[in-house]
Amino acid sequence: MRRTHALCRGWRFAPRFSESFTGPDSDISSWDSVEIPHTNIELPYNGFDETLCQFQSTYALDFSLDEKVGEEPAFADIPPTASAASEKRHFLDFDAVMSACEVWVNGSRAGGHSGGFTPFSLEITDLVREGEPNRLVVAVDSTEDPDIPPFGGVLDFLCYGGIYRPVRLRSQGALFLSDVWLRGLDILADRKGLDIHASVDYGGGNGRVGAGLAPSASFALRARLLREGNPVAESLETPLRGKTTILELRNLRGIRLWEPDDPELYQVDVELLRDGRAEDRLGIPFGFRTAEFRPEGFFLNGKRLFLRGLNRHQSYPYVGFAMPARVQKREALFLKRELGLNLVRTSHYPQSPAFLDACDEIGLLVFEELPGWQHVGEAVWKAKALSALGEMILRDRSRPSIVLWGVRVNESKDDSAFYRDTNALARRLDPDRQTGGVRYLEKSELLEDVYTFNDFVHAGGRIALKSPRRVSGGKRVPYLVTEHNGHMYPTKRFDNEERLAEHARRHARVLDAAMGDPSISGAIGWCAFDYNTHKDFGSGDRICYHGVCDMFRVPKYAAAVYASQLDPSVRPVLEAASLFAKGERSGARLLPIEVWTNCDEVILYRGAERVGVFRPERKSWPHLEHPPVVLGDLIGERLDDSGFSAGDRRIIRRVSARIMERGAAGLSLADKIPFGYLMLKNRLGYAAAEAIFSTYGMAWGAKDETFELVGMVAGREAIRRRYGPDSRFARLDVSSDDPSLSSREPDATRVLFRALDQYGNIFPFASGCVRIALAGPGRFIGPRSPALVGGCVATWVFGTDSPGCIEISAQCDGLEPAGIRIDVT
Ligand code: GAL
Repeated sequence: MRRTHALCRGWRFAPRFSESFTGPDSDISSWDSVEIPHTNIELPYNGFDETLCQFQSTYALDFSLDEKVGEEPAFADIPPTASAASEKRHFLDFDAVMSACEVWVNGSRAGGHSGGFTPFSLEITDLVREGEPNRLVVAVDSTEDPDIPPFGGVLDFLCYGGIYRPVRLRSQGALFLSDVWLRGLDILADRKGLDIHASVDYGGGNGRVGAGLAPSASFALRARLLREGNPVAESLETPLRGKTTILELRNLRGIRLWEPDDPELYQVDVELLRDGRAEDRLGIPFGFRTAEFRPEGFFLNGKRLFLRGLNRHQSYPYVGFAMPARVQKREALFLKRELGLNLVRTSHYPQSPAFLDACDEIGLLVFEELPGWQHVGEAVWKAKALSALGEMILRDRSRPSIVLWGVRVNESKDDSAFYRDTNALARRLDPDRQTGGVRYLEKSELLEDVYTFNDFVHAGGRIALKSPRRVSGGKRVPYLVTEHNGHMYPTKRFDNEERLAEHARRHARVLDAAMGDPSISGAIGWCAFDYNTHKDFGSGDRICYHGVCDMFRVPKYAAAVYASQLDPSVRPVLEAASLFAKGERSGARLLPIEVWTNCDEVILYRGAERVGVFRPERKSWPHLEHPPVVLGDLIGERLDDSGFSAGDRRIIRRVSARIMERGAAGLSLADKIPFGYLMLKNRLGYAAAEAIFSTYGMAWGAKDETFELVGMVAGREAIRRRYGPDSRFARLDVSSDDPSLSSREPDATRVLFRALDQYGNIFPFASGCVRIALAGPGRFIGPRSPALVGGCVATWVFGTDSPGCIEISAQCDGLEPAGIRIDVT
């Protein structure tokens, strides 16, 4: 029976390599104790030399086959523990090592791998010993080897280094299931089918174990389709037929489809039987769904769905790619539930299985692509790119969330021979999914099924997107915008309001245009989160500030453009792209203010007075599901008791709005003439006229200057926000993404420190240090006293293997300390 044991704790790490480390007896006692996932160096937040993480290092672990180990977690009915030593064959499964490695067990070389994003397994049966400790040594090369994709050219992201995804020891019988691949059939019919391709390892891999062992009559396969643990259908026992046997489930009735809003996941349980007893089992989640890009858009389960997505780099501050499963899963949830996306592109490489598991579970669609960035190397490089592509597809081809394979190096030039090969490989390994290949080239050779195009034409003007027909060279082809914005308008979360507001509008303009063109399947913005990068890119501090959120995952206004497209029943959203301060914008031009919201209407109050009701601005944003509400008048009903006639009040409101939008110099004759007449009629001198604007427009000297926005959905208050130009740093708020961590595996959660004003909004001008103290079974990454940037900073807190309570306290000068507790269970 298969037993797997996570090799995540007890590792030793040296930031160097020497042949002498590979022996079974080298002294590693002085090396650092580390956990996997691990980054080879903790980096500063920004402004560092990217070569800091490009070096060779060594990881070593002493492990025993006699430890009690668990099995694949999906099956509760297997006896709970046994030792791996009772099995015949042993493997090391690596999820990813950046970017190449060599592995030794007890001083003998077990194998290696090159390419930092895909998994590999090494059989170590002949190298391990029962009843005594075994020494595992992994020499990791994190230099940017030009023969390994994505390296060889320049690169607008960092790859960091180390064993940054889990490693497991797997012990098996002589024969075992090496792969299970699931293919749904007749998915939209009442009676559906499922083909289960089960591959068996008969040994003989590496020429060592079980060579010559052949399928015999005593071995068979059986599969069950389960829903919430209950069998829905079962295949008959099928004798093994060579390496791969197809088990067919047919006439499946009452099957629920996997939909983004209701991602029904079944489980397929495959057993390898020997004389009727299970010799091995694998459980794979499966969702029944169809996904098709057509010239008239993307169709999921036969229904058109506009793909609203963002690109994601899997990097985090300080530790790069090395984040445990919980953080990966949280990120998928954040993209779907907080940002309201229905698709993520894993730019520009295969991402963590934990992240993709969450995408399957929550119904977030994925466009996954092979590693690369503009550069295509020579033959060795291409061979490695093909290997990475194959490894990615073999790893992920049963996942319902993945709807498209990216088989071109992002933004590379046409290369017929190479891209014929990548397309052929993808179609051979997975005939059910379409291919795309992200390009910036117009009229490039379309060897893929979908023309996936990075469209950066929008520069703030009226043109939001290029015409798909023109880009594809006049052909009607399935078409997807895979990037927009990004470097066209880098925006820091601590930039001024005008820039942040324009950043949001730019994302909205592209979304609106894409939604308005039925031939566009969707638009994937660049990008979800700011990211560390090489010196050739970004703002000069090794950060590309292209995210709709910063590196700590704190949203900028542009994030609310996406979030506000959510259905309000999921979550009401109301985010004004303004601080409502009188002098933050150039020329004190407070208006207009976009409020990114999914509410039907927003009622605005100024102080105790009601200004009026504002509705979504459909005229300017005809295609967005939820256009913003645009506040273009801060006077509204507040003049009703002023004694001015209705007509005069209209003129005052309009002229005041114009001044607050364009300044007095921006008034036209059409504004000035009626207002002059109003002054004459009401015998107002210049000072009195000016006073109207300072009282009602700017509200200079007013006692209560707050703005309150009440979002209404179906006639009911759904959300309320208050803003005030008198805001100050009123309190430090500390929160964590998760209330507890597990002690059983490396685990982490984000802890966010926010300077809040008296209205509960982030006070972006707070810039002091947060002194963080942690007590209990945990640690945090990054500086001890980080500075607030734009009123926020975060860290990730990691638990240890001891249960208990982590207490985190934080203090900023002059404010009450704040804190939280995180249980480690
Ligand atoms: C694209 C590229 C992305 C990123 C982006 C910045 O050309 O594909 O990786 O560099 O530009 O806007």
